[in-house]
Amino acid sequence: MKFTILSSVPNLLESPLSHSILKRAKDKGIIEINIVNIHDFGFGKYKQIDDYQYGGGAGMLIMAEPLKKALIHLEKDSKFDEIIFLTPDGEQFKQTTANSLSLKNNILLVCGHYKGIDERFRQKYITKEISIGDYVLSGGELGACIIVDAVSRIIPGVLNDETSALTDSFQDDLLAPPVYTRPEEWEKMKVPEVLLSGNFKKIDEWREKKALERTHKRRPDLLDL
Ligand code: ADE
Repeated sequence: MKFTILSSVPNLLESPLSHSILKRAKDKGIIEINIVNIHDFGFGKYKQIDDYQYGGGAGMLIMAEPLKKALIHLEKDSKFDEIIFLTPDGEQFKQTTANSLSLKNNILLVCGHYKGIDERFRQKYITKEISIGDYVLSGGELGACIIVDAVSRIIPGVLNDETSALTDSFQDDLLAPPVYTRPEEWEKMKVPEVLLSGNFKKIDEWREKKALERTHKRRPDLLDL
């Protein structure tokens, strides 16, 4: 799976995408992440990419043309399956969105900065618009990192123990049950007996019950489908 991220602040993306599970996934050749600077496609000596809004208003917009030049340059190699714009007015990113994106091969993530990007580029080239939540960030970069992370970890072979992605919260519309590691007693709190029993049927039942209880208490909205 190849992710290309188009950004005017590429430095924001380097570190979050270079460690831990994503680093291992890159090293294993399962994912590839290509970060592209929009300024490389800007106008003139100063590589200008932004301008004022028609009609007035605070904040600059990224112009359509540098984005188009970048896209055409990138699609010389291979066409994108999905061209995603990160924006607070997009559809909300959920586990189901990550699951369906994990089936694609070549995804472009376009990050706006300043006040956004020219509407005409959105209309002409963007195939999907995603928000990571009901709040406004300074740009799409953090959202792009979230998408790359959430999508990558469910691609087979990325996690060592493949089943662990299947037991994540949200994979079955339930939150994950509580988990414990050593020691058996910590600050006078004991690990639930059943988890020490070695009876895997009972353990599975207990986990399912706890997942349901937790979902009911914290996210009842997930249960009324
Ligand atoms: N850019 C700015 N705010 C955003 C949000 N909430 N989700 C995705 N991209 C954004």
